[in-house]
Amino acid sequence: MTRTLTTRNDVIFEQLAPFVVTTPANEGQLEMAPFGIPTRWVVSPYAAGNGVFFQLLQKLDGLTFGPEGMPMDKWVFYNCAELPGFIYGFAVEAAAMTAVERELMEVPAGYAGPVPFSMYIAIPMHEAGAWFGHNLASLNRTFPHRRLDGLGTVTKAVALEAFKVRRFVGATQWTSKALYIHTRFGPLALRTTWTPAHSTAATLTYQFDVTREALRYAAGDPAARLAFPEPDIHLDATDVNAMQALQARIEAGEGFELVGPPSMQGGRVVHPIRATGPAVG
Ligand SMILES: CC(C)(COP(=O)(O)OP(=O)(O)OC[C@H]1O[C@@H](n2cnc3c(N)ncnc32)[C@H](O)[C@@H]1OP(=O)(O)O)[C@@H](O)C(=O)NCCC(=O)NCCS
Repeated sequence: MTRTLTTRNDVIFEQLAPFVVTTPANEGQLEMAPFGIPTRWVVSPYAAGNGVFFQLLQKLDGLTFGPEGMPMDKWVFYNCAELPGFIYGFAVEAAAMTAVERELMEVPAGYAGPVPFSMYIAIPMHEAGAWFGHNLASLNRTFPHRRLDGLGTVTKAVALEAFKVRRFVGATQWTSKALYIHTRFGPLALRTTWTPAHSTAATLTYQFDVTREALRYAAGDPAARLAFPEPDIHLDATDVNAMQALQARIEAGEGFELVGPPSMQGGRVVHPIRATGPAVG
């Protein structure tokens, strides 16, 4: 099988191979070779023998999301990800890790299976083809010596193809570094800019229609093209009043989209936003 995707850093494919967590019943819905990349490990949440792998997934989440204050309990993985949806990511065999790496990931002695270095979780929504992005984690910054730059973005792009996502909905905090990644998939229509329903109200909810071109562009394929319009609003990442004012305009029927990554302006983090006319459906 030939990989049909070129990324900004194909070293990822030299060091790591994909895994997917799926129930046997859901497995048939998956693209098992997204962009010609074969899935090496298929992990069932129903098999007790996979217990160490789920321990390692939780460790990956703890190392990355722990400092963000939103680590997941195992029951959240099981109830909200592994049974209704999928977890897709890149892993390495324990034997191919250094002793220091194994220690940090708390790989049990004698374990010879895959160790996850990244994961992407999405949950199907009721609308056909619509998925909610639940979690993205990458050890790129934890293991900089491996030079896995782009791992987070490539994991999300390939996972969306594996899950056959047609419309993507996500929720992220305005201060999250992950917005550098999410905004690479094209202009993002804003459903909320202030979200009291979430534990962190300073959360945006966004959506976009998934195309292969957008996934290729996000992954860094030099042949892919995507248009990003100019912004007409710059939202300060900590300006609650501005978030609430935009939210009121959205609820009044106006539409807005996020058209690029955050940037620094005079010591503040700001987000580029464009008014699009009537609100998205
Ligand atoms: C955020 C996270 C997934 C990034 O993983 P990664 O493999 O380093 O991501 P990538 O290399 O694909 O990064 C893509 C871009 O984001 C930028 N970026 C990522 N994390 C960053 C950070 N902490 N600070 C500044 N920029 C960051 C990268 O510099 C890169 O920019 P570039 O394209 O201009 O080079 C990872 O650090 C992580 O797991 N963080 C904790 C959990 C989290 O916040 N998850 C997302 C919640 S929705």
